[in-house]
Amino acid sequence: MSLKRTGVWLLLFFFVGSAMQDKTPEYHNCQDTHVTCVIAEDCILPCSFQPSGHDAVRWFRQEVAVLSFLSAGSEEEKEDDGEDKEEDEGDEDEERGQHYDDRASVSPEQVARGNATLVLRECGPKDRGRYRCHVTTLAGVHESHVLVKVEAPLHSLHMELSRLSGFEEIKCSARHVYPAPHVTWETDPPASQLLRPITRKLADKQTGMYEVESRVRRLRHHPEITYICKVTSSYGTQSWTASLRERAEVSGPEGRDISIPCHAPDDLHDPFLSWTFTQGQDPAHILTYDRQSRSSSMSPLWEDHVQMDAYRVPLGDGSLRLLDPDHQQHTGVYTCVYSAPYRTHTEETEVTISHVADKRSSLEPSHWWIVAVVITLLVIALAAMLTYFKVKGSFSTPRKQPEPSTEMHSVKVSTPEEMIPGERSPLTVPNYGGDTTDSPSKDA
Ligand SMILES: *[C@@H]1O[C@H](CO)[C@@H](O)[C@H](O)[C@H]1NC(C)=O
Repeated sequence: MSLKRTGVWLLLFFFVGSAMQDKTPEYHNCQDTHVTCVIAEDCILPCSFQPSGHDAVRWFRQEVAVLSFLSAGSEEEKEDDGEDKEEDEGDEDEERGQHYDDRASVSPEQVARGNATLVLRECGPKDRGRYRCHVTTLAGVHESHVLVKVEAPLHSLHMELSRLSGFEEIKCSARHVYPAPHVTWETDPPASQLLRPITRKLADKQTGMYEVESRVRRLRHHPEITYICKVTSSYGTQSWTASLRERAEVSGPEGRDISIPCHAPDDLHDPFLSWTFTQGQDPAHILTYDRQSRSSSMSPLWEDHVQMDAYRVPLGDGSLRLLDPDHQQHTGVYTCVYSAPYRTHTEETEVTISHVADKRSSLEPSHWWIVAVVITLLVIALAAMLTYFKVKGSFSTPRKQPEPSTEMHSVKVSTPEEMIPGERSPLTVPNYGGDTTDSPSKDA
């Protein structure tokens, strides 16, 4: 029993010991303060110490000096440094501190209170790295580290169905992102194994910012499928989702009102909505619905031709009603886009308005009538010819057969390709060619 107990105690002791050993390196990592800064904004690197009134603050990035600052009271130390020749008051000290980098500064008032926080103005991708805050006080040396990550968060995600290239594809794109984000695709209902996305990530040479574009081929045999593109920031701090649904074609005759569907997915609450129309290249704005004012604004060109129930939009129904549509003006692709932070949803509907207008109705059938008559005449003529040859052929099959064979023979003799290999003089080649090509044109 006692042996067992001591064994348990030993085990426990080892367990605790090993757990403590495991923890020590982690504890060191935790000493680094982690800071994620937004590109083009100020980056704040915290550092606090016990002030003594005679303090020298130095900041390093990957062991390269960024800034040095001497508090107003530490005049003697300044002389000891040797680097600084001018001897002025506190204001000058701050200036000297900024000498290393115009964008880096510490606040003298804050340093006096033991706050050596470094402010990096308008930070960029180059400011990433491990920083060291080194403060020499009368009491000793304080040192701490700050790990800086730099990020340009996504502001929007664009998704479209592109019909320009040979095959139709769905394009998902984002701009001004840093670092390069991850892109994943899904479909609803699931068929993502059929998607073979091609993703390009291009960095701007000057700013270092990324432009991301991912494409998948449109799945032909999956009508009304929803394509979902997810873009997650490299640090996992945020994720944007865009989805696109291709609606079944809507068609109707000219002059009759039709409804073009547009429904928001369940996970999109109180979105902004816009409708556009494409006929060729440039999309034309139809209307936008503002979720704050709960009102829609319409392009004057469309005022007489579209209607949307603004009360239904918050309920997820942004369907558009086309009034008195015209074949030429209103046949095209209608796109509705719901957008909210981190989420957009697009629906595309091809609309065909057919000609049945009163003026042209008399013209159209007359054309078809002519075509029908021509076709029947052709069919009758063909049938007559067939019966004629059948009758004639049944009587004169032996006489007919040699005729085509002699024709083929004469053709074979005159072809230039067969004569060329036998000829040695190059002059004769164009002669033969000329003869054969000339003869049919003369006949005609
Ligand atoms: C330290 O100083 C910075 C400015 O240099 C300021 O933004 C921050 O709030 C200060 N921190 C404290 C704890 O006072």
